[in-house]
Parts: sequence; C-alpha cells; structure tokens
Amino acid sequence: MDNKFYVTTPIYYPSGRFHIGTAYTTVLADSIKKYHALKGENTYMLTGTDEHGQKIEEKAKEANKSPKEYVDEMAEMAKKLWEKMGIEYNDFIQTTEPRHEKIVQKIFDKFMEQGDIYKGEYEGWYCVPCETYFTQTQLVDGKCPDCGRKVKLMKEEAYFFNMKKYADRLLKYYEEHPDFIKPEYRKSEMINNFIKPGLEDLCVTRTSFDWGIKVLKDPKHVIYVWVDALTNYLTAIGYMSEDETLFKKYWPADLQIVGKDIARFHLIYWPIFLMALDLPLPKTILVHNWIMMKDGKMSKSKGNVIYPEDLVDRYGLDATRYFLLREVPVNQDGLFTPEAFIERYNFDLCNDLSNLLNRTVSMVNKYYNGILPEYNGTPNNVDKEMEEFTIKQIEEFDQKWNNYEIAISIQEIWNLISRTNKYIDETQPWILVKENENEKLQSCMYHLVESLRKIAILISPFMNQTAKNILRQLGIKEEKLKTWNSLYENDKLTNIKVIEKGEPIFMRLNVEEEVEYIKNLMKG
Ligand code: ME8
Ligand code: MG
Repeated sequence: MDNKFYVTTPIYYPSGRFHIGTAYTTVLADSIKKYHALKGENTYMLTGTDEHGQKIEEKAKEANKSPKEYVDEMAEMAKKLWEKMGIEYNDFIQTTEPRHEKIVQKIFDKFMEQGDIYKGEYEGWYCVPCETYFTQTQLVDGKCPDCGRKVKLMKEEAYFFNMKKYADRLLKYYEEHPDFIKPEYRKSEMINNFIKPGLEDLCVTRTSFDWGIKVLKDPKHVIYVWVDALTNYLTAIGYMSEDETLFKKYWPADLQIVGKDIARFHLIYWPIFLMALDLPLPKTILVHNWIMMKDGKMSKSKGNVIYPEDLVDRYGLDATRYFLLREVPVNQDGLFTPEAFIERYNFDLCNDLSNLLNRTVSMVNKYYNGILPEYNGTPNNVDKEMEEFTIKQIEEFDQKWNNYEIAISIQEIWNLISRTNKYIDETQPWILVKENENEKLQSCMYHLVESLRKIAILISPFMNQTAKNILRQLGIKEEKLKTWNSLYENDKLTNIKVIEKGEPIFMRLNVEEEVEYIKNLMKG
C-alpha cells in the first residue's frame, strides 16, 4: 500500500522525567505524522519505552519497587506527558510486554540458527560494586565513571552478532539509496568513523545481570540492549506474531527519527539486523541534533534542565511546540535560552501571527459588520502578487518539510505571515474605505481571510489548537483544516461571519519577568 506513512520515535529509557529533548523528538514525529495525514495518507506513529537493563533495575530498587512495577508507572507517566503535548501516537510499546519479549526471543534464535550470532568472550573493565562493564574509553582516570572506584579487567561468556559479514552490503545499500540517511552528512560520518576502519562485532548478551529477555536456548544469558531495543519497531506492528496485518500494511517504516546519540545504532546495526531478517529497510532514518543549554548538555546536576510540562503550563501547548520545531534545526544543535523562548513568543506568535488575525477580524467587523463580502474573483495587481507569493510559500514549505528541514519550512510560513501583514500596509484599507474603493476593499478583506485560512492549514500539523482558533474566529468551519489540496485553490468563502470581538491568540509577555520565570524552572 503506497498511501501509508509509518513513523517511529526512539523508545526512551524510563529512568527519570522526560525533558524537552525527548519531547522534541516526539513532537517532531507527531507533527510530521499529522502533515502526512493532512495529505490524506494513512498514518501510523509508534513510540514507547525501553525498559530492560541494569540501570532500570537499579532505579526500581531505589524507588523500592519491582522493576516491572517501576517501568509500568514510568510508562504511564510518559503517556500522560504525550497527551499533554498533543501527541497522537497510534501505539505505545513497552519492551517488557510479552508481545515484544516473545518475538525478540524468536528473532534471536533465528540469528543463531543462521550463524549470525556466535558465542564468544566479552572482555571489559568491570566495576564490581556497580556490576557494570566499561570500555577503556568510558573510564575516567582509569576508574569507574559512575562511582570512581577501581575497575578490573574481566571476561565473561557472551554472544556476538557478526557485523563484519554485512559491512559491504550496508555500504552498497547506502550508495544505492540516497534518501536512506538524512541529513546526508551523517552517512559519511558512519562510513569514515565506523565502517571503513572495520566494523566490530556487537556483543548482544550478558550474564552479569538479570533484568532482560532471556536467551531461550541458553537462559543464563540475557539479551543485551540493541537486539531488544531496535526490534520494537517490528514487534509493535506484529512482526512474526499470529497476526501480521499491521506489519504487512506498514512495514517498511517511512521515517524513523532518532537523536545523534543513537545514530550509529540506527544507521549501522539496525539495517544489518533487518538484512539478516531479510526484511526491507526503512525509507528514511532522520538523525537530529540536540537541544543544548548555554552551559552545555542538560543535566540535573548542572541544574539546567527544562521539562516540557512546565513550558506548556505557562505558555501553552502550541507556543511550546512551535519553539521546539522552529528553534531547533534538525541538522545542527539548537540552543535553549529563556530569552529566545520569550522572544519567539513575542515576535513570531504575538506580533506576527496574533496581530494579523486581530487586524483582520477587526477590519471585517468595522467595514462589513463582521460579514465577509462576496469576492468577485478578479484579483487586482497587488492581490495577484499576494496570491503568487502565497503559492510560492506553500511550495517552499512543502518541499523543505518533505526533506525534513522542519525549522526552515516553518520559517516559510512566517514569511507568508509577514507578507500578509505587509499586504495590509500596502493596500491601506482605511484609505480604501474613505475613498469608497469598494471593490478593492472587498478584495483586500477576502485576501486577508483567505491567507489566514491557508496559514491555519499550514500550521495545523504542529499548532493544531491555534489553527482551530484562527478558523473559529474567522467563522470558517474546522473541516477546512483537513484538506491539503484546498491550499492551492482560492476558497469562495461565502457566508463567512467573523466573531464580533477578536480574541488575541498570543498576548505579549513581559520579557524580564518571564526570563526570570524560566530561569527558576531550570533550577528545578
Ligand atoms: O537512547 N536534544 O533512550 P534515551 C534532542 N533507549 N533530543 C534529545 C535530547 C536533547 N538534548 N536528549 C534526548 C535511548 N533526546 C534508547 C533508544 S531506540 C531503539 C532505543 C532524544 O532515553 C533523542 O531522540 O536516552 C535521543 O536519541 C533520545 O532522546 C534518547 O533517549
Ligand atoms: Mg541516552
């Protein structure tokens, strides 16, 4: 089925509250999904939590809970957060669900039978109190990076996945599928840093902890991290289960979004696992960069963490989603600063968008008692220019969004907003009314409402409440949001009555106060 769109986020570790980084990826996936839904595609979005491993086991112990109790509570917390963020996922997978665990065991068996997985010895620096292995490079001054104590070079029996066997096939695949990795520069990074120097086989089991999926044929081994985590994208849609309907309908995924921290696992190991399963590879894996803070990465110990709920509570859902997508370009790190957040709010949302709507609604009220006059359909020169600009912006938006240059594509919408504001200044309706230029005045009001209708459709995948609010204030039915194609035509807009008194969708914020407010949030 061609007309489908399957998008995934990483499954996040439920080891603490999710911060705006996690929210960023999820909002991105949700917005892209909604854009494809707008185009009439059959969309499916998957997210979830990655619930096995020693870290989670420890967190549960700290919380005096069984690991399963702990992860279930965390998954509920995640679902609540996503609801608050307006995320419309179709499925949420927890890796501790039987539907996942059973299939991971089958997949592992299959890899063993095929000879892709072999038994060997894992050697690493082991911290006894932390019961954790570290690689040489993870050590800090030769000591455990977690507790600072001495580590021992130790060996344990482990299973390995033979990655080398697939290296050439992977390179060839990269070459033949230019859309597989986005942005493009991540591909050369993989080739030069990991594949060309020689792929190392991947250790896929451990015997040193319990909280994981057991290898059926050798149960002292627990499947370690990536075979368990990555396969969620398949198990969630029923791969190898009794009912493969969803799998048949949606696989291969159209878009898998990950942060740069897990690029290597998704760009190298994941396609290799899929090759070993003889499955088609996802169409595109999009690797985005990070949200950074002025003093580097977000971390609790630095006291610079921002939680998405706090922003939503104070500034609303759409302002938060807008900021994340607009300020964090996919292909480079984005900086979160309280100043930037408030500035975007005041300039983009309040001055540009909210004012445009307000000016329009109040003029239609003032000049026509709230009822948009019929438009005769013949644009004058100023209008024509405006119409052409609008079409150009829609195309720019579409093209960039399709290439997952989300921040830039949103900017194209704001160019249209600015252009529409400028159109008011150019046509000067307050003069047209004085001079009895009725036809021009009608045309101007029509083009303003029509431009706002298009703007509402364009922002609807990422700012749905605002889009609805705009249409409501203009007196246009909400169904109008559902058709992408109506962007390319001029709607007749008959019998349109705007609301009597415009309601500002975004109100100007006091910069100093709000910057202070956000700084306090960051202190936790
Ligand atoms: O790695 N900026 O889970 P995780 C932007 N369970 N995005 C960020 C971010 C930031 N500062 N911090 C986190 C795992 N992210 C594994 C994944 S997938 C089969 C298994 C986002 O909880 C980004 O998407 O550490 C990153 O890749 C992900 O959270 C890591 O989440
Ligand atoms: Mg991580």
